[in-house]
Amino acid sequence: MKSVRWMAAVLILLLGFVGQSSALVSEARPGIGYDDQVMFLDKKIVEADTVIWVTLAYSDPRDARDCRNLIDVFNGRQLFAEVPEKSWVLIDFSLRSLVIQSGFAGDADVESVTLCPDEKACRTLQKQRLSARKAAKPGEKTEGSFSSNDLSDAAQRMALARGLVKAARCRGCHVVEGFGATHAPSLTWRRAKYQDGWLNAYLAEPYRLRPALTTLMMLRYTSALAQPSLQPGELSLVADFLERLAWFTPPAGRFRLEPWETYQCQPCHARLYAERPLVFVPAPVPLPLRKKMEELLSVQSCLACHTFGDVQTVTAWSGPPYPYPMAPDLLLALEKLRLDYFIDYVRDPKYLQPGTAMPQLHFTDLQYKEIEGWAQRVQLLMRQGKVQPVHNYYHMQKRP
Ligand code: HEC
Ligand code: HEC
Ligand code: HEC
Repeated sequence: MKSVRWMAAVLILLLGFVGQSSALVSEARPGIGYDDQVMFLDKKIVEADTVIWVTLAYSDPRDARDCRNLIDVFNGRQLFAEVPEKSWVLIDFSLRSLVIQSGFAGDADVESVTLCPDEKACRTLQKQRLSARKAAKPGEKTEGSFSSNDLSDAAQRMALARGLVKAARCRGCHVVEGFGATHAPSLTWRRAKYQDGWLNAYLAEPYRLRPALTTLMMLRYTSALAQPSLQPGELSLVADFLERLAWFTPPAGRFRLEPWETYQCQPCHARLYAERPLVFVPAPVPLPLRKKMEELLSVQSCLACHTFGDVQTVTAWSGPPYPYPMAPDLLLALEKLRLDYFIDYVRDPKYLQPGTAMPQLHFTDLQYKEIEGWAQRVQLLMRQGKVQPVHNYYHMQKRP
C-alpha cells in the first residue's frame, strides 16, 4: 500500500512537467502525442555521422532535484544531429511506451526539435506556442483532467498482475521484466507489441508459433489442471501487465528474490511434450503472395532463419539442423504483431527486445520500406480472409 502511495506521489510530481498528465498516467498508451515539451538532452551517441542513441530527461539530472524521468528516442534521433549534449530543447513527440519505477522511463518518436539557449528560454517559447495554439483553436482543452482514482487503480493493477505472474511462475520458462529462464521466447520488450486482443486470446488458448521449437509448449493457464488456474479477469490483468509494463529495466530488488532457478518447469514439461508432441501445421500461402515474395530479395533473406507458412517450412529446410528455435513462423508473427512494432523490430531488434537472438540486418531504407509494404499486404490479406493462419492447439490430458 505504501508503495502505491509513493508511486502516486511520483505521478503527481509529473503533473508539473507534463500538461496532458492524465494521458501519461492512466492512459499511458502508445501513440499519444505531446507538443512543445521542454526537455533536456541528457545523452547522445553518434557513430559514423549517425545518431544511434538519444536519451531525454524532464529536468537536468545533474541538479538531482527530481527523480529520473527519462525518455529514449527511437524514430527521429537524426533530428538531434546538430543539438549538443546537455542542452535544452522544445520537442514534439509521440509516446511509444512508459513504465513507472523510480521515476518513469519510456520511449518516443520525435517529430520536431527546437534548440534553446537555456531552460528559461525554452519555457518562454513553450508559453508562446501554447497561447498561439489556444488562439487558433479556442474551444480546445489543453489542460488534462486528472483523477487520483485512475492512478491508484493503475498502480494496483500492476501490483496484482506482478503477483499473478509470480504465482503462475511464468519465469520458470520466460524472461519477464528482465529476468527469468530462457527456455521460451522473452516476454521483455518495449512498446505495445501485439494486435488488440491477441494476447488475451493466446493466453486463454495457446498454440504453436515456432516450428523449430520442438521441445516445449506454452501452457494453458485457463486449464483446470493448472495451479493456479487463471480466471478470465486475472488473464486480462496479466495480459495488460505484459502489454504495457513489460520492460527491460530490472525491477526493484524484491522482485528479483523470486527463486525461478528452482522451478524446474522445463525438464518436466519437455518430457511430457516429448510423450505427446504437437506437430506444427504450416498455413497454405496463396500463389500471388508466393510470387510476390520471390520478387522481393529483402523478404527472401528472412527465410534463411524463419519459416513463412508453407513457403518455407521446417520440413522443406535443406540447410544444417534448423538453427533458430525461437524464430516464429513469420505469418503467425504478422498475425500477432502490430505493424509498427514489426517494422521497428526489424530495423533494430535489440532496441525493442533486449537480448534477442534476431540480428540487425543493415538493409537500406528502401529495403526496409519494401519489407514494410510486404508486411502490410500480408496483414491485409489476413484481414480479408485470403490468407488463413493455422492455429494448432495443445491440450494436456489428465494422467491416470
Ligand atoms: C513450461 C514453460 C512455460 C511456462 C511456465 C510459461 N510459458 Fe509462455 N511459452 C512457452 C513456450 C515454449 C512458448 C512458445 C510457444 C511457441 O512459440 O510455439 C511460450 C509462448 C508464450 C507467449 C507468446 C509469445 C510470443 O510473442 O510469441 C506468451 C505471451 C506467453 N508464453 C506468456 C506466458 C505467461 C504470461 C506465462 C505465465 C502465466 C507463461 N507464458 C508461462 C513456455 C512456457
Ligand atoms: C513433475 C513434473 C512437473 C513439473 C515439475 C511441472 N509440471 Fe506442470 N504439469 C505436469 C503434468 C503431469 C500436467 C498435466 C496435468 C495433470 O496431469 O495433472 C501439468 C500441467 C500444467 C499446466 C496446465 C496445462 C494444461 O494445458 O492443462 C500448467 C499451467 C502447468 N503445468 C504449469 C507448470 C509450471 C509453471 C511449472 C514450473 C513451476 C510446472 N508446471 C512444473 C507436470 C509437471
Ligand atoms: C540470422 C537469422 C535471422 C534472419 C536472417 C531473420 N531473422 Fe527474424 N528472428 C530470428 C530469431 C532467432 C528470432 C527470435 C528472436 C528471439 O525471440 O530471441 C527472430 C525474431 C523475429 C521477429 C520477432 C517476432 C516475435 O514474435 O517477437 C520478427 C518480427 C522477425 N524476426 C522478422 C524478421 C524479418 C522480417 C526478417 C527478414 C527481413 C528476419 N526476421 C530475418 C532470426 C532471424
